[in-house]
Amino acid sequence: MNSRNSSEWWRSAVIYQIYPRSFADANGDGIGDLPGITSRLSALKSLGIDAIWLSPFMTSPQKDAGYDVADYCDVDPIFGSLSDFDAMTTKAHDYGIRVIVDLVPNHSSDAHPWFQAALAAAPGSPERGRYIFRDGTGENGEIEPNNWQSVFGGPAWTRTTDADGTPGQWYLHIFDTSQPDFDWTNDEVREMFRGVLRFWLDRGVDGFRVDVAHGMIKADGLPDYTPPAEGGSMGGSGTPLGLEPAIDDIGEDGAPYWGQEGVHDIYRDWHTLLEEYEGDRVLCAEAWVEPLSKMAKWVRPDEMQQAFNFPYLETPWQASALRAVIDESLEAFSAVDAPSTWVLSNHDVVRHASRLAVTAENPQGHGIGPKSPGQPIRETGLRRARAATALMLALPGGAYLYQGEELGLPEVIDLPDEARQDPTWFRTDRERYGRDGCRVPIPWEAGTPAYGFNTTGAAWLPQPADWDGYARASQVGVEGSTLELYREALRIRREHGLGLGSLSWVDGFEESVVAFSNGAVTVIANTGSTIAAIPEPFASAEVLLSSGAVDGSTIGADTTVWVLTP
Ligand code: NOJ
Ligand code: CA
Repeated sequence: MNSRNSSEWWRSAVIYQIYPRSFADANGDGIGDLPGITSRLSALKSLGIDAIWLSPFMTSPQKDAGYDVADYCDVDPIFGSLSDFDAMTTKAHDYGIRVIVDLVPNHSSDAHPWFQAALAAAPGSPERGRYIFRDGTGENGEIEPNNWQSVFGGPAWTRTTDADGTPGQWYLHIFDTSQPDFDWTNDEVREMFRGVLRFWLDRGVDGFRVDVAHGMIKADGLPDYTPPAEGGSMGGSGTPLGLEPAIDDIGEDGAPYWGQEGVHDIYRDWHTLLEEYEGDRVLCAEAWVEPLSKMAKWVRPDEMQQAFNFPYLETPWQASALRAVIDESLEAFSAVDAPSTWVLSNHDVVRHASRLAVTAENPQGHGIGPKSPGQPIRETGLRRARAATALMLALPGGAYLYQGEELGLPEVIDLPDEARQDPTWFRTDRERYGRDGCRVPIPWEAGTPAYGFNTTGAAWLPQPADWDGYARASQVGVEGSTLELYREALRIRREHGLGLGSLSWVDGFEESVVAFSNGAVTVIANTGSTIAAIPEPFASAEVLLSSGAVDGSTIGADTTVWVLTP
């Protein structure tokens, strides 16, 4: 059921993720910015999305591409100013596009004034009480307070140096050294973030994507913990694609820093705060928790509105696995009267136009590079990605798109080593490539500097030489292009109200085929590598959309078709 209140826009919304560094660069310094976004918004209007979510553009030393915030209520000069933000929001709203910003409450940057004050203050001081400082163990405190590992690799603790130059306490950072974790049992921290929410709500934002929404509370006593298996870098199970579902290594019986019960009080508090504002504002959880029945706790009626469906993202292109995760998602979320969301790509994972054709184990966050096993074949990846997206956009609930996927962009696998910037790359001594390959600035026009990302040709990550064909302008109005496939899918989705619809499985197809109807639309997705039969009455039904070759009674390998339900 997905209908408690169909006027709640987010129940069926298609939300497009903008990664500001890589979307459009108005001042030509090689880093995308807010004026760049404003100048390109019309392209998103014509794509037909409902909202944009912007990865962080707040003041930050950019050690983790902005997920290390030094001032939560200002714009980093590399992205522009608050008035640039206001201009962008106004234009988006004029186009009927809602605006969601990224909130990073688990940790700040080490450049945040509070952390600098904590370093300058004594152990046990109120300044240190806003973060998680502890004495080390061992004779001289030289051993970390516990054995936790950073999800980017290496220990989760860094030792400080006292004013007299002697080694001092340690502080916790579940991510990079430059990202100290807040202590969310501290009321000052809670109050500060209420202020941050109000600041952006007052500026007219429609909601927040909440970073590491499963990590803010740590178990009492910070007990030692050794993960049962190598995890994904965002704290998920890191289920290797195509293998058995993960062990639930999260929560009560698992990591003492993920999925602790106490996080839910924070979201109840924020839910109440958002309700003071007009216009249906939302919270979306980035919570890498499993199973889905546990993730659904984040979207109980008095908590958040949406949660990213990462188990769906991690599902291989395989019919039985897809049917199972779709069933499980619809059941888990409808049990709390929330819509499911669906997502295939974001700035932390290998782009699905490559990922779906990787043939070796590839835990989330490790990325792929020239030496990774199981290199994807580009054509196979794109064919599968188009089919996977066509399947996803017909499912009831909300959907998230990541900039560039509508162009069919592949992961950039062969970035030069010296160009890589993800802290994962450095913290694992260059063993994991990390996430740069999905973050390369996107192409707008063929044959121009930086493919129209700017006019100077500068780009913070180098763009491949063979991207002319992926450029947006090369695909607009071109029949069969990936961009037109997305536009058409979004148009039909809207026309038939698929986001608010409901799913019924359709039998009678080969095992490799996922087939369901959602109201007037029947979706037939062949995940197999050979053609499959389309039986009657579907073979004679009117074709509404197709990601590849359909020929009356057969559907090609890795292809999805939408037909009018007979
Ligand atoms: C999740 C974000 O999506 C990722 O990019 C970031 O590195 C971590 N959280 C830490 O903030
Ligand atoms: Ca710029």
